[in-house]
Amino acid sequence: MKTLLLLLGVVVAVLVAGAAAFYLWASHEADRQLTSVVDTHVVTFPMPFPASAEDLAAAGVTADPDGRVALDRARERGRHLVSARYACADCHGANYGGGVMLDAFPMGRLLGPNLTTGRGSVVAGFTAADWDRAVRHGVRHDGRSSAMPAQDFQQMSDQELSDIVAYIQSLPPVDNEVPPSSYGPLGQVLLATHQLTPAADMIADHHHAHLVEPPPVSDPAFGAHLAATCMGCHGAELAGGPIQGGDPSWPPAANLTPYADGLAGWTYEQFASTLRTGTRPDGTALRAPMTLVMPYSTAMTDDEMHALWAYVASRPAVATP
Ligand code: HEC
Ligand code: HEC
Repeated sequence: MKTLLLLLGVVVAVLVAGAAAFYLWASHEADRQLTSVVDTHVVTFPMPFPASAEDLAAAGVTADPDGRVALDRARERGRHLVSARYACADCHGANYGGGVMLDAFPMGRLLGPNLTTGRGSVVAGFTAADWDRAVRHGVRHDGRSSAMPAQDFQQMSDQELSDIVAYIQSLPPVDNEVPPSSYGPLGQVLLATHQLTPAADMIADHHHAHLVEPPPVSDPAFGAHLAATCMGCHGAELAGGPIQGGDPSWPPAANLTPYADGLAGWTYEQFASTLRTGTRPDGTALRAPMTLVMPYSTAMTDDEMHALWAYVASRPAVATP
């Protein structure tokens, strides 16, 4: 009996020591990933972009010597972009003074920092290159990898990013010191075992030139540009399937290609109505996380909705993975 107990004790001690050693390794490895410096290109673009001939005509002037027209137009476009396409406020807060991406022990606490000009701002003195690295590369100001989901924003053009900056900087300053983001034990183990990938590592090429401006609305490429924001969940081919890195309780993303269990037979009206009401043609309601997209899709213009549908409907039919 005594030998059996002793044996059991030894087994437990070995297991505990093994788990401790594994955790030590994982936390060290996660730390290595999060503190290594990511090499990116250094870009520059105007903030704001100068007024175009149409901007000047719309403002009823022939020149914009103090840049007022350019700034007003940039802010207007930026406001639309963050209302209809890019979900910055979901994590940085409705007033952009800070918000929550994830706060769940043992995963971690990923907080969206303060992007306003108030106390606690992380973007004070940011150049175009700093905004580019933060938003389109997932790289922090100090060169380290960040939890900012830049993989969803890498297709954004220089002008769109510049417009978003113009809009955010026009907002009232918020004084709020947001604590730095950190991963808990589970988050560290997932990072170390590559089941969780930092945004910067999901982006294959950190030196590839970005679009300067979005494609014109009349260009079929504009629809593809819009659909880039759907691909984080619906996949690069829009064929749907389980959402990578998503909440395990989420249903798989729907197949948006003209496949049998996809959007075969859908009309533009059905597509637009689904994205604007949250109810499918068969009367069923869309579930989370598609519901999180609704505030944005309801703010899309008719031109945007048409361009998006033209692209979606032109995709080859692909079976759901
Ligand atoms: C899903 C949540 C989420 C969304 C959406 C999001 N962010 Fe972030 N962002 C974060 C988190 C979390 C951090 C802090 C990451 C860290 O410190 O590791 C961050 C950091 C940043 C930073 C600071 C980088 C630095 O140098 O410290 C900027 C700038 C930024 N985000 C801008 C934006 C803009 C602009 C958008 C919209 C186009 C956006 N974010 C959308 C979660 C998000
Ligand atoms: C955050 C993840 C996510 C994003 C981003 C997203 N979707 Fe979805 N979408 C889903 C999920 C999950 C479903 C399935 C919902 C359900 O089964 O109730 C879905 C369902 C749909 C449906 C219903 C299709 C059907 O057959 O039921 C349409 C249409 C759709 N999405 C279009 C889009 C478009 C267009 C975009 C980009 C503007 C987009 N989605 C962005 C997750 C997402």
